[in-house]
Amino acid sequence: MFPREVISTGSLVLRRPSNADAEAIVRACDDPVTARFLYVLPSPYTLQDARDYLRAAEAKWANGGAEFTITENGHYVGAIGVRPPDAWGVAEIGYLAAPWARGKGVVTKATRAVTEWLFDHGVERVELHAAVENLASLRVAFKAGFQEEGRRRDAKVGRDGRRTDIITLARIPRDPGLAAEPYLPFFDGGELSDGVVRLAPMEVADAPDYHRMMREPSVAAYGVGPSTTLEDNERRCRYTGYWWLSGQRIELAIKDAVSGEFAGHLQLVHVQPVIGQGMIGYSLQPEFRGRGFMTRAVRLLVDWAFANTPLHRIVAGTVVDNKASQRVLERAGFVRESAHREVFPREDGTRADELEWLRLRPR
Ligand SMILES: CC(C)(COP(=O)(O)OP(=O)(O)OC[C@H]1O[C@@H](n2cnc3c(N)ncnc32)[C@H](O)[C@@H]1OP(=O)(O)O)[C@@H](O)C(=O)NCCC(=O)NCCS
Repeated sequence: MFPREVISTGSLVLRRPSNADAEAIVRACDDPVTARFLYVLPSPYTLQDARDYLRAAEAKWANGGAEFTITENGHYVGAIGVRPPDAWGVAEIGYLAAPWARGKGVVTKATRAVTEWLFDHGVERVELHAAVENLASLRVAFKAGFQEEGRRRDAKVGRDGRRTDIITLARIPRDPGLAAEPYLPFFDGGELSDGVVRLAPMEVADAPDYHRMMREPSVAAYGVGPSTTLEDNERRCRYTGYWWLSGQRIELAIKDAVSGEFAGHLQLVHVQPVIGQGMIGYSLQPEFRGRGFMTRAVRLLVDWAFANTPLHRIVAGTVVDNKASQRVLERAGFVRESAHREVFPREDGTRADELEWLRLRPR
């Protein structure tokens, strides 16, 4: 059983929830973002729901868990709850920020303080679970020193009835607990453009165009891996934000800057922070070829990457006979670095050789 203490951190005071919080709780919970990601909260959320929550919060303390109201200058700004630890000293936390207090680091500060308070009270591991599309929550966890451990596929059902993957993060006492700086920051303003092409994060709305393009014979000829369904590709698009935020990869739709049409796909993958290396890959719809679109897109992304990330080497691999792709790389400032034998499996059971191309960070 945890002591019913008050935790102070900076300008925040975390205390037990009280009846006086009820109206603020209704306003915080009867909110589209809260409802979207806290699947079990009633929606719409009423005063009676807040009263039920307040009773459950007391019961939680009595059952070995904890529930805090986060306050700033005496006002409700959010909540943070702790499930009773299991037999191995593992506790799970969950949180919400009141809509009027979001984006100010309130929950990050509170999460850090509660996690350290739990360690002081014998907890050996604090877990946190966030939906793959809940980027604000994932960012909070990274800033509060949590490390990502894995993903649970189809683990919950969202408000829209769709099953969703859940990312598991945890912090243990021997972790440094430092706030992780994003290795791959988001684009300023969300997109990059040179007036002819526009690079925008892949989203679910791009999945049908992407799916069609990947099945087009001249694209499929250079594809690797099993073929995917439209549903697979929609699911993949739901990962764009999480992959980017966690520094794993960038997935972009290339759009015609004038018409907005989907022209192709460009990605930065195999990001290895330890050596500062990433790899690009791309495909263009046949009707957009021969206009320098991909050269522009690659230049935009690679110039951005060297200006905004610590990446030192950006590489690209082409099948040895893919001359069009090799011209794109040459025009985008890449040089041929090496040749690798029998890399890409082909449908007929043979394997194609690969040429690897490199652009180094400018000095
Ligand atoms: C998750 C939640 C608690 C975050 O609260 P908050 O007060 O905004 O958190 P913070 O200000 O400490 O940090 C939010 C971070 O997410 C980032 N962020 C917010 N929305 C984002 C988005 N759509 N895409 C990418 N990053 C986003 C912010 O920029 C900030 O990061 P930064 O400091 O690097 O700029 C709040 O959004 C919330 O209450 N959501 C509903 C309930 C919920 O999802 N709970 C967690 C369930 S796992």
